[in-house]
Amino acid sequence: MAKKKGRLDFVNMKKNGEQVTWVTAYDFPMASFVEAAGIDMILVGDSLGMITLGYDSTIPVTMEDCISHCKAVRRGAPNTFVMGDMPFGSYQKSDEQAVENAVRFFKEANVDAIKLEGGVRVESRIKAMADAGMLVCGHIGLTPQSSGPLGGFKAQGLDPESARYVIEDALAVERAGAYALLVEAIPPELTQFIAKKLSIPVYSIGGGGPCDGQLLICGDMIGMFQAFTPKFVKVYANVAETITNAFKEFAGDVRTGKFPGEEHFYRVRKGMEEEYAAMLKEYE
Ligand code: KIV
Repeated sequence: MAKKKGRLDFVNMKKNGEQVTWVTAYDFPMASFVEAAGIDMILVGDSLGMITLGYDSTIPVTMEDCISHCKAVRRGAPNTFVMGDMPFGSYQKSDEQAVENAVRFFKEANVDAIKLEGGVRVESRIKAMADAGMLVCGHIGLTPQSSGPLGGFKAQGLDPESARYVIEDALAVERAGAYALLVEAIPPELTQFIAKKLSIPVYSIGGGGPCDGQLLICGDMIGMFQAFTPKFVKVYANVAETITNAFKEFAGDVRTGKFPGEEHFYRVRKGMEEEYAAMLKEYE
């Protein structure tokens, strides 16, 4: 079993130009598959609202949802670096609220780090959480919790003016004391620039590369989330089709009497068949 990686491993990986592999997971079985595959980090993203709870955005996701899913993931992947995602409403009010909720992730779900969305506007939040001794990852570019103000799930930093905002956000995240940064849906030129400019590891989801590692959402990459697939996703499996076909086959087997078969029965204890039949007869 590979040793669980920590912050210093990720710093060294950046120094050595080694790519970090990172996926989301939300429950025990998925987390155990991720760990078995030797992936470096797991994000228990608030994308769980869309991928597993059926919401059409991440906004309704609560602290309780996130903590409960983080706990399941931790049980499934005890030897993998797990990051919890601060849901909308858990850090918007004040630095104190942010610290209080971040602490819950570490105490109740035993995560290794937490992530929150935003750059300049959450600088004091990141600083407060980092000063309280927690590993914080920033998340800039397309930030799904603000997809309303951003005009939808849209790529960011595509022109010089908006790229400037992304750079300012990146600088703010590092200045505030985050240990890592995630950039989402920005052009590769900008991702590469930020990864070189910052001394902390810079990871990408939909930001191309090169940078220090890549994240994908499990529901997208294994073909489980059906509503839409972002342009930046590479689909490695069609789990939805596999599962639907399994259910269809089961339904067919039951309807035609093919299931259950001999091999699925429990047998009456050997030598007791006659006695058993007689007992049943008593109840006829
Ligand atoms: O919630 C999540 O999975 C995320 C990704 C979109 C980066 O924050």
